[in-house]
Amino acid sequence: MATAPSLTPADLPLGVDLTDPCTFADGIPHEVFARLRSEAPVVWHPERPDGPGKGAGFWSVTRHHDVVEVNRDAPAMSSARAGNMIFDTQGIQGSDESRMLVHMDPPQHTRFRLLVNRGFTPRMIGRLEDFMVEVSTRTLDRVVDRGEADLVEDIAAELPIQVIAQLMGVGEEDRPKVFDLSNRLIGFDDPELGGDGVLSAQKAGAEMYEIANRVGKHKRAALDAGEPPADIAGVLLQAEVDGERLTELEYDMFFLLLTVAGNETTRTAIAQGMLAFMNHPDQWDRLRNDRSLLPTAVDEILRYSTPIMNFRRTVMGDGEIGGQAVKDGEKVVIWYASANFDEDVFTDPLTFDVGRTPNEHVTFGGGGPHFCLGANLARLELRVMFDHLLDRLPLPELAGPVDRLHSNFNHGLKRMPVRWKA
Ligand code: HEM
Repeated sequence: MATAPSLTPADLPLGVDLTDPCTFADGIPHEVFARLRSEAPVVWHPERPDGPGKGAGFWSVTRHHDVVEVNRDAPAMSSARAGNMIFDTQGIQGSDESRMLVHMDPPQHTRFRLLVNRGFTPRMIGRLEDFMVEVSTRTLDRVVDRGEADLVEDIAAELPIQVIAQLMGVGEEDRPKVFDLSNRLIGFDDPELGGDGVLSAQKAGAEMYEIANRVGKHKRAALDAGEPPADIAGVLLQAEVDGERLTELEYDMFFLLLTVAGNETTRTAIAQGMLAFMNHPDQWDRLRNDRSLLPTAVDEILRYSTPIMNFRRTVMGDGEIGGQAVKDGEKVVIWYASANFDEDVFTDPLTFDVGRTPNEHVTFGGGGPHFCLGANLARLELRVMFDHLLDRLPLPELAGPVDRLHSNFNHGLKRMPVRWKA
């Protein structure tokens, strides 16, 4: 029987496989990225033929400046040609997935984005603040007197999924299912959360799609009956650009995208943020004593946690990145997990500083058309949650090992047992 072909360290830049989740077993490999930024900032990274990238290989981009350039150069760096994930999605064109916002290029993307922007104006997001306060209060009410908790499941997990469910008008009965499915969609590399790679993500996607379709039909019927939109979902279904509305498929794919894009990411920022505070207790005290630092603290939490560690583009026509020639059709992977700690942009990048200004992190992308639609929503969630945490809990301490998601894409935590003096 033929053995599966594999790569040896000699084939890889600095001998490290960035497609292997094990490389991220202890979190972001800062030393590796620092060396790549300095010695090989745009470098060809081969892939195992039996891996999720099917051996295609990619340009690995690690400097802040180059990551921003790739992100902004939408016509030359396509999200539509083969998706925005590191694994192979060559079959995306013409499929349902091509109707998802993150998988579009301008001008199609521009029209769709104008439509969904209507649901994410500061006014619409501000309307969710009271709900965020309510959920944060309820979440902490449940744990404060216990003196111990799993910071991920008991504290960080609740707010992000409740906010998405609220804004998309998901009923209470569907919320646990939406929560479980979004975990499986994101944790596809983790044996505990699905395990069989892209296939388990596809299965979870199909189930989520069914829920989205049901909720969407219900909302459309209410609007057709003359009821005013009750939530962001209603606003989205009613919005028009150039006389066109979202089709049923587009609405369903957008719903699917939000449950993936806004849930695990924000949960990771809350959990990783608390881990950063436990490792830097002086910053907890500083923020507790001066709450005017909350806005800069939130951005430092976002930088330090970098919930999404990379995204991918495909080169359209021959070009160059940071002086390196790249060819039409080649894959490019931009490492936010590296750019956010680039010493050319951030003073003492490994220092967690709640007053850091300026803070040009690329946690929501490096700008350009795909810049995170939920950035201000996520910032508000973090502000509300950390305000409550500072008010209601002393700084906890770790009560057991931190269990990380097995992934080279999501910097997530699965469990983080903590305790405090109740
Ligand atoms: C800390 C939390 C979050 C992080 C780290 C994050 C990160 C990102 C990043 C890096 C992108 C760029 C994708 C690309 O360039 O291909 C993105 C796009 C997006 N995010 Fe977020 N996100 C967060 C929260 C949210 C929330 C709360 C929502 C909504 C509920 C959301 C919705 C979206 C959408 C719809 C896009 C696609 C935008 C487009 O393609 O035009 N995100 N996000």
